[in-house]
Amino acid sequence: MKISIFGTGYVGLVTGACLADVGHDVICADVNQAKIDGLKQGIIPIYEPGLENVVKTNVSQGNLRFTTNAEEAVNHAEVIYIAVGTPPDEDGSADLQYVMAVGKTIAQLMQSYKVVVNKSTVPVGTADKVTAVIQQTLAERGFAAEFDVVSNPEFLKEGAAVADFMRPDRIVIGTSSKFAEDIMREVYAPFNRNHEKIIVMDVRSSELTKYAANCMLATKISFMNEMANIAERVGADIENVRKGIGSDPRIGYHFIYAGCGYGGSCFPKDVQALAQTARQFGYVPEILDAVEAVNYRQKHKLFEMICKHYGVWDKAEKGETKDILKGKTFALWGLAFKPNTDDMREAPSRVLMEQLWEAGAKVQAYDPEAMEETQRIYGQSEDLRLCGTKEEALKGASALVVCTEWKTFKTIDYKQISQSLEDKLLIDGRNLYRKKSANEHNISYYGIGVN
Ligand code: UDX
Repeated sequence: MKISIFGTGYVGLVTGACLADVGHDVICADVNQAKIDGLKQGIIPIYEPGLENVVKTNVSQGNLRFTTNAEEAVNHAEVIYIAVGTPPDEDGSADLQYVMAVGKTIAQLMQSYKVVVNKSTVPVGTADKVTAVIQQTLAERGFAAEFDVVSNPEFLKEGAAVADFMRPDRIVIGTSSKFAEDIMREVYAPFNRNHEKIIVMDVRSSELTKYAANCMLATKISFMNEMANIAERVGADIENVRKGIGSDPRIGYHFIYAGCGYGGSCFPKDVQALAQTARQFGYVPEILDAVEAVNYRQKHKLFEMICKHYGVWDKAEKGETKDILKGKTFALWGLAFKPNTDDMREAPSRVLMEQLWEAGAKVQAYDPEAMEETQRIYGQSEDLRLCGTKEEALKGASALVVCTEWKTFKTIDYKQISQSLEDKLLIDGRNLYRKKSANEHNISYYGIGVN
């Protein structure tokens, strides 16, 4: 089938590459000329395991092409995906200007029937808005053409996006048009061979499904972080509690890891956006607000632990943080918001680094993938040294803080830590290590929800 994708960001690129990989004839369009030029040469602007290979293979086979020419993309396909960004507005609601602009472009250029597929994560009601803008633009053109707007949310995890796309748990299609449904079934037929994964529903339920999935996952994390904070106070260990409750299949072992908060491009944005939608519809979203509030607090927790250890929490609590950690240098392991990505969006490490700098401390950091991205965000600074290895980050540091659970951090040489760190302090934001082992090496250890 001939398919076009507008937007070569994370979602658009993975979608385009994977649809090409199963044999569709795909054009990816973007307004960013430099990005398109790079993609034509196989330069992938994001780090995503397996993606480069899929892009290069399909480009060389001729079934994946890149363009900045919207007309070429619109005329190429009957199925056109909108996969452009929906950044949060000031009030947390999703900014739809890019989605609407693509809808308008499609309507200005289309010569025949199109299925317009909303792949971007968009608030409930967006498909109706896209329908309206296409109708209005067609009317302005004085051109009559049929079209359907379908909601088809993605459930891709960064770091596993290609695998998730190729072997989806489910494929949600929101449409009330049987014609569009059949076309979408054909698009996804290669992914639907072994058992039925396609769930067809009305457009608004499909739009809400995406938010409900992410908000449920974010809720599990904030819930566990709340349990961890209670565990600390009552003398329990959240890691035991996690195993104890995860064994109940109704709860399950996934997404119940306490830590220094969730980040990324989805959870924070989607929780806020759904809360905002709820408010717009006159409903006060108590749970969503709490999920967000707990996460905000959790991201500030590492700094609190550090301040408490150094006996300066009294000041920090009153907001008198300036220079309270002057002279200290913190080794940071892990900058990305989670392992297997270079994505720093909403990463807990950023909140910590910014607080440490405000407190007059220096940071020397190591991350297997996110160093360039960190450099891009923070530039050159005396207070941030990016180190080539995790060992180098320890040299001359006062303490070590772990923000991301990369595999390489899972083994730790306590002897080396003890010898390298001036203050022999280990703050474990992902509960990778055992307090007992650290203490045996004279290291002060603090984890999340452990005693
Ligand atoms: C998420 C959803 O998982 C995916 O289905 C959706 O399409 C997009 O949003 P992603 O943002 O890639 O994917 O990250 P995910 O792996 O879900 O992790 C999100 C954050 O939660 C990370 O910061 C991670 O460290 C944190 N997390 C996850 C926890 O703190 N505890 C857990 O138990 C699981």
